[in-house]
Amino acid sequence: FTLIEYAGRNWPVFPGLSQRLEEDLAQFKARPDDTWIINWPKSGTHWCWEICSMLVSGKAELLQQSKLTAMYPEAVGNAEIEPMPSPRVLNTHVTPDYFPKEALENSKLIFTVRHPKDVAVSYFYHLKGIKFYQYETGAWAGYFPVFLEGRGENGDWINHTESWLSVLDDNSNALVLKFEDLKKDLRKEVQRIAEFLEVSGTDEFYDEVARLCSFDSMKEGKTPGPDIWRQEASGFFRKGITEDWKHHFTVAQNEEFNRRYRETLKDTIHTKKIGYEFL
Ligand code: A3P
Repeated sequence: FTLIEYAGRNWPVFPGLSQRLEEDLAQFKARPDDTWIINWPKSGTHWCWEICSMLVSGKAELLQQSKLTAMYPEAVGNAEIEPMPSPRVLNTHVTPDYFPKEALENSKLIFTVRHPKDVAVSYFYHLKGIKFYQYETGAWAGYFPVFLEGRGENGDWINHTESWLSVLDDNSNALVLKFEDLKKDLRKEVQRIAEFLEVSGTDEFYDEVARLCSFDSMKEGKTPGPDIWRQEASGFFRKGITEDWKHHFTVAQNEEFNRRYRETLKDTIHTKKIGYEFL
């Protein structure tokens, strides 16, 4: 599939990527009421963006993905983001070395993490489904080593996760959310996010946010957005479940994955705390 190499790792093909990373992000003007959704792609970006957008605006209504695409500084640059009124809910998949320093100190940061085996499967369908990647004939057996060895977009999951968690560990402006916890009890997590964002809503408001942000509601209510997906693809809302990896990984792939992740993670500190079963 199509990607570009820059500064020793592979990236999505965003126009002017090097300028976005070296200039736009470096000069980014952070606001204290900005909320950032930070994650490895396919870890619930749209989901959290929608929840946070409702919470900070105080309006329980789905805004949906067509607007989200405009919220990545590394994709669209500051010229698009600066005129946006506060409070902004922004997204990024960059590693902390490219993240605006001011935002790290002054803005609200939400890092969402998802089981990497499910991330790998979700990413596989993302690549197959979006026309631009020209990966429609891609097979799981071919993609598996690409993910495992960190050769795909955004490089290596462990590096990304460990480097973010180590930066955010002592940061009182940061909240770490697990996709699996959102899945288990969305209402409870909505309230936790609201408290973190210092939003004071009623129980009815949080109920409504959780109802609108359920998988079925988001899939059903999605706006058309740009026509980037192949006709047969299920788009950003494919299955929205946990442990779908069990339907894709062979026994040998699972063993190889566990071996590599255990070996690489044995000297790390932060990712272990997340508590996934291979750790
Ligand atoms: P699947 O491909 O496993 O279905 P991102 O927004 O970061 O690209 O993540 C997309 C993944 O999050 C997809 O996973 C998608 O279905 C899932 N997702 C999005 N909204 C969701 C929701 N409301 N509930 C559960 N999963 C959701």
